[in-house]
Amino acid sequence: MRRALISDIHGNLEALEVVLADIKAQGITEIFCLGDIIGYGPNPRECIDRVMENCTAILLGNHDQGAMFDPDGFNIGAERAIFWTREQLENPNDRVNNERRWEFLGMLPRSHRLGPFLFVHGSPRNPLSEYIFPEDIYNHRKMERLFQLVEKYCFQGHTHVPGVFTEGYQFYAPEEIDNEYTLGDGKVMINVGSVGQPRDGDPRACYVILEDGVGAAPGSTAEAPPTVERPNPGPRPPGTDPETGEGPDTPTPRNLATGAVRVTFRRLAYDHETTIQKIYAISELEPFLGDRLRQGR
Ligand SMILES: [Fe+2]
Repeated sequence: MRRALISDIHGNLEALEVVLADIKAQGITEIFCLGDIIGYGPNPRECIDRVMENCTAILLGNHDQGAMFDPDGFNIGAERAIFWTREQLENPNDRVNNERRWEFLGMLPRSHRLGPFLFVHGSPRNPLSEYIFPEDIYNHRKMERLFQLVEKYCFQGHTHVPGVFTEGYQFYAPEEIDNEYTLGDGKVMINVGSVGQPRDGDPRACYVILEDGVGAAPGSTAEAPPTVERPNPGPRPPGTDPETGEGPDTPTPRNLATGAVRVTFRRLAYDHETTIQKIYAISELEPFLGDRLRQGR
């Protein structure tokens, strides 16, 4: 079965629409969102609505949390953007929808597990806010500790820098591996990049397709048969642990991954000038938040 993994949308509706259309065009129906739907960008409400409509597992990001509670640890520009975002979600003219959006944000778990796959926003040690940067491969102590917490494969966002971390202290940027990586016996942590604010020097929106190998030969795009495929628990179905998102139906590593497990990084150009002009027009959002979209920084 193939799933799309998106993260760090940050209120960028133009980027999100292009990514969702690309996912749909490939016949992928299951989308996981690894957090930071809002913050920085000009369309927080619309992005929340799209994620609610299209994603089956959705995690809390630090900016999502910052909008709900007192933001902590953000720079001035990010904090002002969070306060503006909160205002949009408190707009009395959109009261009914906003109540629904607050309720949704308040229910988001911090991690999600599916067989050998762990999904977090930041890191397996601190799912909400720890960064794992490419240069952390030189901090062996940090990497060892993080990998101790990973059973097999971990997917994360938060840095907005896509790529693959191996247990052997390597980091592969997507362009170094032709945008594809086949998962084997070794543990890996994979950053899925950012839909709405890439920071690896490439301004195009980024997301990942995860092919879990269930019910399909390597290279095949066939979906898993119904006997293997399981319903995704969603943000928090009844009986689900609110912290981990784990439910009673979570499959074990043994009954997943019988074929090749492969990730593909997708990069998509979008109309970032429209997003930039929207940001410029909102005085609470610093112009830098627009400029950086043009540079992918
Ligand atoms: Fe983010």
